Amino acid sequence: MADNLVFITGATGHVGFAVLVVTLKAGHRVRASVRRRDRHQIDEIKTHPFYQVFSFDACLHGVTYIEHVASPLPRPTEDPENDIIIPAVRGTISILNSALKVESIRRVVITSSAVAVIPSSALSKGDSENVYTANSRVRPLPSSPWGDHSSAYRASKVLALGATDRFLAERRPHFSIVNVMPGYVIGANELANDPSKVGSGSNGVVMGVVMGQKTSVARPCAVVDVQDVARIQVAALDERRVEGSKSFLLDSDSVSFDDAIDIVKKYFPEAVKDGTLPLGGSIPAVHLHLDVSDSIRTFGPLKNYETQVRSVVAHNLALQSKSPGKTK
Ligand SMILES: NC(=O)c1ccc[n+]([C@@H]2O[C@H](COP(=O)([O-])OP(=O)(O)OC[C@H]3O[C@@H](n4cnc5c(N)ncnc54)[C@H](OP(=O)(O)O)[C@@H]3O)[C@@H](O)[C@H]2O)c1
Repeated sequence: MADNLVFITGATGHVGFAVLVVTLKAGHRVRASVRRRDRHQIDEIKTHPFYQVFSFDACLHGVTYIEHVASPLPRPTEDPENDIIIPAVRGTISILNSALKVESIRRVVITSSAVAVIPSSALSKGDSENVYTANSRVRPLPSSPWGDHSSAYRASKVLALGATDRFLAERRPHFSIVNVMPGYVIGANELANDPSKVGSGSNGVVMGVVMGQKTSVARPCAVVDVQDVARIQVAALDERRVEGSKSFLLDSDSVSFDDAIDIVKKYFPEAVKDGTLPLGGSIPAVHLHLDVSDSIRTFGPLKNYETQVRSVVAHNLALQSKSPGKTK
């Protein structure tokens, strides 16, 4: 399985960088695309803003596997169509269309999301009646207006998954596709080199709670460790281990975001005592029943929320000790 050329998108992000490291450790060679050369100080690499260039034809020669991780997270924008929906959906479809032209490609693993299989109403209000699996689908498909950036993000993942399903049915590719569908991805972001960046992206749910931020908007509390996501994304390349064209939902345990407070009191009492971690924040959690049994059977147990929170907070404290004064 080792020594294949793996093409990775999104390697400059939280999940993608972890995937990059695990892919290299597994013995593969890697080619990566980034959208902005200026931000990453990288020389030999393809720059690829999905919004402007919708073909990966020039990137895939000699590739055996693709890890398609890149997609916009829910960040505030005036233009959700161009900033969130289009890059997510066209990014996915253009990489699949380009892969059709490359005979050596055997599998594409896509970072989908738990929100891709759960209706928006359940994500906002909870759902005690239905059990969601990796084979659940949101219907009808969402359409514009997209609403705020959170709604647009959810729609982007539903639509990208819908486009992938349609591609499989209509194009019958020579390669297989595996969708990995994480809940909130938690765990140290190795790219964050300043304490103020530790809580960016999905780690914000942990850092928000431990740094005292209160929010009234409830969020679905499905969580998974970034290292588990990366491990599973790379394990899913192995066609002998994971049959093709399957999806895997990832949610480690049934918790509330605010459980981070007790975890931090237990493992970082000094930082709580001296006020480095002020605590007192809160994110109301919406609970859903996600069936992840197939994922656990295939890939083994997932690290729990306690491990995830410890990883993020330890990273923050380590960086704070190197640059005192920058606390968040
Ligand atoms: N984090 C979560 O809780 C979570 C949960 C479920 C699924 N996911 C999925 O996991 C994937 C990675 O998320 P993440 O948490 O690692 O987010 P992230 O840290 O924001 O990384 C996103 C990556 O995608 C790239 N990207 C974003 N918009 C792009 C565009 N328009 N054109 C080209 N590249 C673009 C980013 O490039 P730049 O570095 O240039 O910005 C970055 O490499 C996404 O598909 C996301 O939907 C994440």
